[in-house]
Amino acid sequence: MLVIAHRGASGHAPENTMAAFLRALAMGAPAIELDVHQTLDHELVVAHDDDLKRCGRDKRRIKNVHWDDVSGLDVGAWFGKEFTGERLPRLEDVYDILPPSVELHVEIKRGSSVYPGIEERVVDLIHKRGASARTVVSSFDHAALYSVRSLDEKVRIGYLLGLTTLQTAFREMKDIDAESLNLSVRQTLARTVKAAHDRERKILVYTVNTPVERDRLLKLGVDGIFCNYPELNLWR
Ligand code: G3P
Ligand code: CA
Repeated sequence: MLVIAHRGASGHAPENTMAAFLRALAMGAPAIELDVHQTLDHELVVAHDDDLKRCGRDKRRIKNVHWDDVSGLDVGAWFGKEFTGERLPRLEDVYDILPPSVELHVEIKRGSSVYPGIEERVVDLIHKRGASARTVVSSFDHAALYSVRSLDEKVRIGYLLGLTTLQTAFREMKDIDAESLNLSVRQTLARTVKAAHDRERKILVYTVNTPVERDRLLKLGVDGIFCNYPELNLWR
């Protein structure tokens, strides 16, 4: 079962920062998940929320600001004094620091309806970095996934279920050849795992932070979990 460091090692360092990604790397995480938004001047920035209130003490929406307006923001101090000075990363910066052996799960938070052209920029970056084999693009915004597929017939796609019915999900996953169905813990039932596996799709589950939960999902036969503590890979 693949253990994917959710927003980096976000149990140990501020989520979606270089500190969290490097911590995950140091802990031996084979895969890292992160979230992507886009600034007004089209920079792909790594953050979970659509504003920087929670992590950067800045109320503005990412879609309304220029990269220069937010590149100097401190996005580490909220987590702990020792992380003061952590900056908002761009997606390209993350590709620069992580070795090719680490699989990256890039969640596009919203597609072109909110961030014009974001799918094309993500796919372009994957191409420029020669990162097709190591990157899985995921989203709750299924229109964005359709766009990603139309831009590249080979890019790896993870389909985040959200409120979509399973019937629709499996139809759309077939359309866009998504390799995994990504579910919350609560959505993960034995019959759902079977239905995905019958269709040769993987099941990846978020967010799993205890050995008990991990072991339950392992027994269910899920293929991977997103967790804030990469050491979950080692605990037995
Ligand atoms: O990709 C799995 C998980 O990250 C989706 O939820 O809110 O943590 O981005 P969220
Ligand atoms: Ca995410």
